[in-house]
Amino acid sequence: MSAFSNSYPGESSEARAPGLSIETVALHGGHPDEDFASALITPLVQSTTFLTGGPHAYSRVSNPTVSALEHELGALESAPPAVAFSTGLAAETAVFLTLLKQGDHAIIGRGVYGGTVRLFRQVLSNLGIEADFVDTADPRSIERAIQPNTKLVLIESPTNPTLELADIAAIAAITKPRAIALIVDNTFLTPVIQRPLDLGADICIVSTTKHIEGHSTALGGAVTSRDTAFLERLRFIRKATGAIQTPFQAWLTSRGLKTLPLRIRQHSENALLIALALQKNPAVKRVNYPGLDSFPQRDLAQRQHTDAEGRTFHGGVISFELEGGIETGREFLKHLRLCQLVEHVGSVETLVTHPATMTHADVPPEQRRAAGITDGLIRLSVGLENPRDILADLTRAIARATDAQTVNQSLSCAANDQGGRPLLRREEVARV
Ligand SMILES: Cc1ncc(COP(=O)(O)O)c(C=O)c1O
Repeated sequence: MSAFSNSYPGESSEARAPGLSIETVALHGGHPDEDFASALITPLVQSTTFLTGGPHAYSRVSNPTVSALEHELGALESAPPAVAFSTGLAAETAVFLTLLKQGDHAIIGRGVYGGTVRLFRQVLSNLGIEADFVDTADPRSIERAIQPNTKLVLIESPTNPTLELADIAAIAAITKPRAIALIVDNTFLTPVIQRPLDLGADICIVSTTKHIEGHSTALGGAVTSRDTAFLERLRFIRKATGAIQTPFQAWLTSRGLKTLPLRIRQHSENALLIALALQKNPAVKRVNYPGLDSFPQRDLAQRQHTDAEGRTFHGGVISFELEGGIETGREFLKHLRLCQLVEHVGSVETLVTHPATMTHADVPPEQRRAAGITDGLIRLSVGLENPRDILADLTRAIARATDAQTVNQSLSCAANDQGGRPLLRREEVARV
């Protein structure tokens, strides 16, 4: 693997969109070399095959609609056109196949998405690729895990679902002199509020299935980098493995992307209100959200989570644990009405997940516990509903769960000494 170059020698974002802010780039960022007959919105080109002589030959290799999305995603990060894949995991797989071969070693954040862990433990390990899972909140643990055959470090910041941060610039200072590729999974924050390539990362991966498309209608993944030689090798792997995104999914993703800057800010504002309210609820044991003053890595969050204009936002995902552990957690999930229980984040609706039995069920229990994913942890992807309605649903479900637990305990213990725990009152909900 060659050392990654930090600068993108091609067209700069300035040349692409002189002086334009991110909201405008999200709407007008795609300027592919296509003749779309002056259509205002990128047309959906479903043709699998193209006449010879044009920029495209066969849609497994490239397609005009996919190419338009790739230009848009690259422009958001001041980078060359991204490489689009059928899913986030297909994007990860292609990056690993581009950078790793038998006998190589990878360092992976121990709190990354469960599917990434499964990919290493149950698939890439069969190809003779080794991986160590480390605590990326401390850059020194990455340094300690480096071996002579280490080729890449993959981090997720914030982690899913514990919301631990990794200092991207500090980790880049460790990987860069050793020519180890630093990859950031930026799915949770998106380039609108966290710019890994500007912080020194070599490669950025996003599952566009989440916030970027934003409406739960299209799967996809994308890779950006300013290293054009790497992007060329990645495109070859995509062609060789047949992992490109379909035109229709790309078209839906492009449509969702147009409102990404607005959505991600509103998700962040709603999430902060909900996190503050949950923190005040005595039935809630702990709340993880980088926007809270109580967040252990608050300074890093303020530094790292900024948009192009220097404003701070922390994304729509929070996690929390109820007093009473898994039993109360189960009851809580049963009583939700507005918030939907699904294995997904980043949609316009508020979504709830129980990581230990859903997204992270394939992660070994010891690794789950080491990463802080307790059995009672609940992940909330705060949507764009009025936060008052979201909070009313959560508060009611917490109250019911706490009551149910109290009844269960009193039945089994034949003594009701628990009493009713004070929960958020209606006036407090209205104030938040
Ligand atoms: C942080 C993160 N990265 C990657 C993925 C994989 O993306 P996809 O579901 O599009 O394959 C997910 C999916 O949940 C995710 O949450």
